[in-house]
Amino acid sequence: MTKLAVLASGSGTILSSIIAHGVPLSLVLADKPCKAMDIAAAAGIPAVLINRRDFGYQPGIGEGWDREGFTLIVSSTLLKYDIDVVAMAGFFTILHDVIFIDFSRRIVNIHPALLPAFKGEFAVRDALAAAVKETGSTVHIATELLDDERFILGQVRVPVLEGDDVDTLWERIKVQERELYPQVLGDILNGKINLDQVEEQS
Ligand code: GRF
Repeated sequence: MTKLAVLASGSGTILSSIIAHGVPLSLVLADKPCKAMDIAAAAGIPAVLINRRDFGYQPGIGEGWDREGFTLIVSSTLLKYDIDVVAMAGFFTILHDVIFIDFSRRIVNIHPALLPAFKGEFAVRDALAAAVKETGSTVHIATELLDDERFILGQVRVPVLEGDDVDTLWERIKVQERELYPQVLGDILNGKINLDQVEEQS
């Protein structure tokens, strides 16, 4: 059986939807104390905290912390739980490339924009600032390139409405993500999606 882990940092509403859709999870791993840990515990899913602050991370500092050491512990924890596939769901640490030694093509991410548009942490804000009429969300295979658009597993489009701010638009995107992500993850587990055979998009 394919064992799936979710990495999360935040409110965990996407995690909740994955659980509610009956997608079996073997582990939830967080990089800071957060609601996602409580959601996992309430659902009886093993929840592990690997606090990035223990590796020198400080909010707003950026580099200068032990990202590689943090990532190595994340990787060894995933291996300890026999995890095959990792789903990032609002996980706000960029992992060091060493994660791809053991998890190449085994990590998927959901990003709140229509990749390749609006990569990075501020995708929703940036879409609003660009005054686009439509944005959305993308599920893709994570690689060493940030928000890599080459291996897309699913996308949903979401209109930008007049008067939208980051909160209203992001919430409207999340409503769609709560359907899209469980569906894609379910398809990975039931074999409809084979991560090794996803073709690179040109
Ligand atoms: C989602 O919009 C996802 O695309 C992004 O982080 C958000 C997580 O939402 N990567 P939540 O913390 O699960 O509510």
